[in-house]
Amino acid sequence: MNQTDPFYITTPIYYVNAKPHLGHAYTTIAADVVSRFHKMLGAPTYFLTGTDEHGDKIAEAAELNACTPKEYADQISALFKNLWPKLSVENDHFIRTTDESHKKVVADVLQKIYDSGDIYYSEYEGLYCVGCERFYQERELVDGKCPDHKKEPTRIKESNYFFRMGKYQQWLIDHIETNPDFIRPKQYRNEVLSFLKEPLEDLCISRPKTRLTWGITLPFDENYVTYVWFDALLNYVSALGYPHDEKFTTFWPKVQHIVAKDILKTHAIYWPTMLKAAGIPIFNTLNVHGFWNMGEAKMSKSLGNVASPEGLIEKYGVDAYRFFLMRDMAFGHDSNFSEDSIVKRINYDLANDLGNLFSRVVAMSFKYFNGVVPEPDATLMEELTLADDASAALKIFQNEMPLFAFDRALKGIWVFVSRMNKYVDETAPWDLAKDEASAPRLKTVMYNLLEGLRVVAGLISPVMPGTAKTMLAHLGIDEAPLMLSSFETWGVLPPNGTITKVKALFPRIEMKKADTPEPKAAPATQALKPPLKPEISFDDFQDLDLRVGTVLHAEPIAKANKLLKVTVDLGEGTPRTIVAGIAKSYTPEELEGAQVVVVANLAPATLMGVESQGMILAATKRKALSLATFNLDGLKPGTPVK
Ligand code: ME8
Ligand code: MG
Repeated sequence: MNQTDPFYITTPIYYVNAKPHLGHAYTTIAADVVSRFHKMLGAPTYFLTGTDEHGDKIAEAAELNACTPKEYADQISALFKNLWPKLSVENDHFIRTTDESHKKVVADVLQKIYDSGDIYYSEYEGLYCVGCERFYQERELVDGKCPDHKKEPTRIKESNYFFRMGKYQQWLIDHIETNPDFIRPKQYRNEVLSFLKEPLEDLCISRPKTRLTWGITLPFDENYVTYVWFDALLNYVSALGYPHDEKFTTFWPKVQHIVAKDILKTHAIYWPTMLKAAGIPIFNTLNVHGFWNMGEAKMSKSLGNVASPEGLIEKYGVDAYRFFLMRDMAFGHDSNFSEDSIVKRINYDLANDLGNLFSRVVAMSFKYFNGVVPEPDATLMEELTLADDASAALKIFQNEMPLFAFDRALKGIWVFVSRMNKYVDETAPWDLAKDEASAPRLKTVMYNLLEGLRVVAGLISPVMPGTAKTMLAHLGIDEAPLMLSSFETWGVLPPNGTITKVKALFPRIEMKKADTPEPKAAPATQALKPPLKPEISFDDFQDLDLRVGTVLHAEPIAKANKLLKVTVDLGEGTPRTIVAGIAKSYTPEELEGAQVVVVANLAPATLMGVESQGMILAATKRKALSLATFNLDGLKPGTPVK
């Protein structure tokens, strides 16, 4: 993809049966971060979110609240719409499926597919989950219950209209196979492909008005309304003014969707087949993230264990909230939410690492240069420059952001922040200031720090737009819009510019002793399970040789379903063979290229006839294993781990 191509990003349109919570905030902020990133590249971007307002669920919720579905939808939709600006989300449009323009597109597309013969009328009996608003096949249920709502579906028999989805099964498989980025990350692609190994049934796309009236009437039978998913998915094209609007022709070819894994099938199976049948080009990429859990269960309105975004931003600030969400969840995996984890992120990453650095550097600029950006010394620059560290962070950012790996992009920036904190300690400006002869060195050091902070501000701007703006304003820069290209060159900050004094960017948050014992303050009061082993000396530890290993290859071992035979490069010329009991948690292809911790001086042992020359470290979570890996890519194999 050309980076300045138009770019279109969407979130799911949220049901209006309950108030927005942290899960909705996560997806929408992620889309906002992606949109801001593309704007920084100079690409025309369009960012869509909205609400899904028809269907049983909404009709039921309205009845409980003693109002009409439309009145109810108006109220809740407004809660979503008004929340986004408070979260610094800058969507270009907010669509509602009750918009007349949307309803027209749904009717037109239905008519088109009906005319082509891909919609037929038939009697059907099936298992229906009201929560999901869809029929389930037996094999999709877990213990007879809907895997999402944990409720038994109801058996329903009625005459309905069906979309010939099954007809497109092979086409869809081929499309997924030839487009590796169609569904990302790849665990979800694999999940969809494995689901498609079984025959795909046709899709019931109508509901008789005798049962439900809150929906879009079928254009070819007024006794029926449209199934809510067939209506909702079309928002992604109706919002652009499909088929004739210029927005549609500009942005649709570059569309990427973001959803969580709860609606993987509707987006990876229903949606592309619907597009195909309607003769609309297929979307480019479906980006799928995991769940925010709270206390071991998915955070969800039906379970009632939700965290309200408003409360948290009032307490911690919107940028800290955005940072926490983007930094704590690895896109694609689940994350556990607790207020404690927000506080930790704020105190360590924001108050300590970034906030302190910024206040220190600004304060020193006042102390030594009266708040004026000093002129660096060209010869000393070579020795003192932070340009390489900045460009390492930039490179990680440029690689990870297009993959939606926000956590890794931020980690890369924080490596640079830590480097700058260390640089302050190493160069000790306070000592340089004591000696007139060191003036050029002091100027060069301070210039590098100020320039480094400029780059940090630029790179954090998609996630923390407010903080970035504040930081830049204090550095005397008023740049709008922020372009990534201005952070690619070192030495852009103009000497002699004016710096302004700063209060703490992120005040430290005192943790209440009761909820969070500070690790150092309190001695261990709870016994570990399994119990802690007897203490060892530092020398004992030194006997253990831990090294970085790069996995070159992995393969199953016949008759040992837990074991993998892993070939690991330790930088010794000949790679080692290690047998690891991780086959239930990792596929061989997932392991290739991973950098792991190897116990390199362990006596060899033979397992299932294969000699294992070392051990790979991992931790167990219930029955799953998670390998110990590194924050940074590209470590040299054989590097000691201490
Ligand atoms: O499914 N963790 O709407 P919905 C992470 N209307 N993300 C979460 C989450 C959690 N615990 N809970 C919700 C619908 N989300 C349909 C979509 S699209 C054509 C129609 C987010 O209100 C996540 O993005 O149930 C998830 O996919 C979405 O909210 C579901 O929102
Ligand atoms: Mg849901």
